[in-house]
Amino acid sequence: MSDDALVIFTPSGKRGRFPLGTPVLQAARSLGVDLDSVCGGRGICSKCQITPGYGEFPKFGIHVDDEALSEWNSVEERYKSKRGMIDGRRLGCQAKVMGDVVIDVPPESQVHKQVIRKSATAREITMDPATRLLFIEVAEPDMHEPTGDFERVQRALAEQWQVDAVVADLAVLRRLQPVLRKGEWKITVALHRGNHDTAHRILDLWPGYHDGGLYGLAIDLGSTTIAAHLCDLRDGHVLASSGVMNPQIRFGEDLMSRVSYAMMNPGGDQEMTAAVRTSINGLVQAIATEAGVDPASIYEVVFVCNPVMHHLLLGIDPVELGQAPFALATSGSLALPAREMELTAVNSAAQVYVLPCIAGHVGADAAAVALAEAPDKSEDMVLIVDVGTNAEILLGNKERVLACSSPTGPAFEGAQISSGQRAAPGAIERVEINVATKEPRFRVIGSDLWSDDPGFAEATANSGITGICGSGIIEAVAEMRLAGILDGSGLIGSAEQVGTDRCRPEGRTNSYLMFDGSATGGPVITVTQGDIRAIQLAKSALYAGARLLMDEMGVDHVDRVVLAGAFGAHISPKHAMILGMIPDAPLDKVASAGNAAGTGARIALCNRAARDAIEATVHEIHKVETAIEPRFQEHFVNASAIPNAVDPFPHLAAIAPLPEVSYNTAGSEGRRRRRG
Ligand code: FES
Repeated sequence: MSDDALVIFTPSGKRGRFPLGTPVLQAARSLGVDLDSVCGGRGICSKCQITPGYGEFPKFGIHVDDEALSEWNSVEERYKSKRGMIDGRRLGCQAKVMGDVVIDVPPESQVHKQVIRKSATAREITMDPATRLLFIEVAEPDMHEPTGDFERVQRALAEQWQVDAVVADLAVLRRLQPVLRKGEWKITVALHRGNHDTAHRILDLWPGYHDGGLYGLAIDLGSTTIAAHLCDLRDGHVLASSGVMNPQIRFGEDLMSRVSYAMMNPGGDQEMTAAVRTSINGLVQAIATEAGVDPASIYEVVFVCNPVMHHLLLGIDPVELGQAPFALATSGSLALPAREMELTAVNSAAQVYVLPCIAGHVGADAAAVALAEAPDKSEDMVLIVDVGTNAEILLGNKERVLACSSPTGPAFEGAQISSGQRAAPGAIERVEINVATKEPRFRVIGSDLWSDDPGFAEATANSGITGICGSGIIEAVAEMRLAGILDGSGLIGSAEQVGTDRCRPEGRTNSYLMFDGSATGGPVITVTQGDIRAIQLAKSALYAGARLLMDEMGVDHVDRVVLAGAFGAHISPKHAMILGMIPDAPLDKVASAGNAAGTGARIALCNRAARDAIEATVHEIHKVETAIEPRFQEHFVNASAIPNAVDPFPHLAAIAPLPEVSYNTAGSEGRRRRRG
């Protein structure tokens, strides 16, 4: 009988011969098989679970005997009786190779687990976070060999985990001696190494084996909203997602007004920095409570944000971003302790990573979108639009990628709209208007029923009907254009012109009545001429940015469009196209990607290599500065028509022909007078 055996691991297919008696974990490590272990093979953590296969394996040409692994031992028995283990599983550190064997590594035992994103363009995230937990056994002090406890911790990490160059802050060193003694020289450490670090840093330590939480936050800091995902750094799962309004709105609704506030008010930048940091700390508390997690077990925070938010978050005066040449204090990625940014709600040793910016007006949020949607790997010409108060726009394919940002203002998020509100229960989110009768029907967040469905009143009794959110206003305006309530220039017709008394005079213009709840003390929800103007401004800025990139790329159409952004997933592609927010494209080539910037932040949180990748990619992305491009203005003016004064929309015309109406009565009278 041979004194070694063939071991084949699945799903990797890696194989090798090992002396009989080799623990499976050791065989896996020597082949580079992805098998997890926190306790280093001591039978404590149970991360190393494997499933041996027995019988015939014609695919591999081997037969596996029932005795191919050593007998089930007391460590495994103790673990199974205390914590439970799926039948057929073994602990890889306990089971030894005794004959040829095929061993499956289940997904939960893989260190670099793949987390599947739930989105149209599902991508996998390979887990390789900057912080992980390691269990070590540390040598006891010896009078004859005087070394410090920390030096023996360093030695244990080097010997047991091949981790060299380990540092620790004073706060950790202060706790080291009691923890070591309490754990009887066995401890667990939270070890961090960022993608640029040469040394590992101990962020925290616990006596004995610790399997408490290890969490990270991915934060998309937008001008209007701050969105956060709380992720488990052990497996990448999102435990909770939450958002709050950016409190800086009180200093100015858009980016430039906040820069002006900083310019005009000494100390204004610091006020805005303090406001946003306080708000983030509150959000951390709230999201941790929601997930039932101790905020002190959050060790990593990744931020993506536009350049002005980036500077204000970091406490850098954004004044240079308000004037050409729009120089950033730094465009590179940043890694720093959370306490330097006064993020007090997370663990006091937590580390922050801020994605790199692309340029003065194109920030880390655009970089995060590029990371999530990977236009640089696309075969076809893709336009990615991250819709927010400041739209981030990327256009390109694997040959070349261009980026710009465009100041759309907060109208798409329901602000500056007379009946606008945040996306919350009770907000109108879907609208249809009957072309013949001009009667609307709608759906509100919190119910799947349309307003003319039986049971709608009961279903919405709790939330009420409170206003219109961003996706609702886009659909409302587009449906009004489709039904001929609105002409191509964006004017709402009168009751006589349109043929419905839902059109009501309001000052010198008209508005359209969507819902009247006044009889029961509810709101009267209308779309006013002012609302239409706000949406026209926002969508013109968005379209002009996209068009500018198309000019620069030398193309007059795009193959596909990705709508991203906190509410990008909720925008109906058809209505976005009727409005002329996005260039004409086949409707089935317009997809939603949800919060791509937030997803990019999450990828950077879970995978260190992704940080290297995006840092390299931002140098390849060519940025176009909308603020100084004369053609931006021209495109903007043309785009204020619905859908557009000059650009053709052939795909749209085929599916939704728009009525040729004109309510510019003052203009026609003027022309008549001139002719007369
Ligand atoms: S490696 Fe920890 S139990 Fe096997």
